[in-house]
Amino acid sequence: MTNIPRAGVIGNPISQSLSPKLHSYWLNRYGIKGEYTALHVTEDQLETTLRDLPNQGFIGANVTIPHKVSVMQFADKITDRATLIGAANTLIFKEDGRIFADNTDGYGFMANLRQGAPDWDPKAGPTAIFGAGGAARAIIVALADAGVPEIILANRTRAKAEALRSDFGARVRVVDWVQADQMLGDANTVINTTSLGMVGAQDFKVSLDELSPKAVVTDIVYNPLRTPFLIAAQERGCTTVDGLGMLLHQGVPGFERWFGQRPEVDDDTRAAVLS
Ligand code: ATR
Repeated sequence: MTNIPRAGVIGNPISQSLSPKLHSYWLNRYGIKGEYTALHVTEDQLETTLRDLPNQGFIGANVTIPHKVSVMQFADKITDRATLIGAANTLIFKEDGRIFADNTDGYGFMANLRQGAPDWDPKAGPTAIFGAGGAARAIIVALADAGVPEIILANRTRAKAEALRSDFGARVRVVDWVQADQMLGDANTVINTTSLGMVGAQDFKVSLDELSPKAVVTDIVYNPLRTPFLIAAQERGCTTVDGLGMLLHQGVPGFERWFGQRPEVDDDTRAAVLS
């Protein structure tokens, strides 16, 4: 067991995760003695790994696909926002062995938009969201908290969008995936939370002809950084914010809790993670 505080990211697969680069950069930048590593953990190893990590000097961990939901059953204390989202991405291991679980994805989403589009006002109009997976859930919780008046949701599998509506109430309106382009006309904010446009995935094909140039548009896909969706929105005159910042900002609360320093997300941070 080492004496320096350790944290890491738990997932399967894990080699693609940018979190080790991000946290190692911050540790180095602030001169903090600490370590952050990628931890390949299968579903059946999850509980024993979580119980054992504190013995190895771990003070916390990030959690990524596919463990964000299942990790909740091993937590002793769960924040309200993680409960609402139904998933956790940030764990703190207490000295008495208890596990504290939080979800910072919604925080990361909001912080990224506020940084990338400083004039953006979530209350100024409806938000249109493509997709109804785990990321959409975290984003809806954050947007509702920020006072968005209406959330218009389109998902290929309509039932998943309807399930979000029943969880989050009348502020959510569901439209059919084949009519998704029609939700754009009124939207003040437009978000792609699907994997469409990601390297190796299918193209994003919904027409943006109805999109107002006043809308702020963001994508959670960050590989490539400028997705065809963001490029099309930019061509219409919209302010666009790429998805890398969401990943960087969601790491902030965990790093601060584990290592006692609130890290900055700036151009140097982006460059370090992209290098
Ligand atoms: P995450 O947790 O990152 O949101 P997810 O839960 O797997 O990941 O959700 C992926 C989202 O991308 C879903 O909204 C999914 O739509 P379905 O619910 O219909 O599966 C959407 N998605 C993935 N591939 C898609 C495609 N080819 N066309 C339209 N939507 C797609």
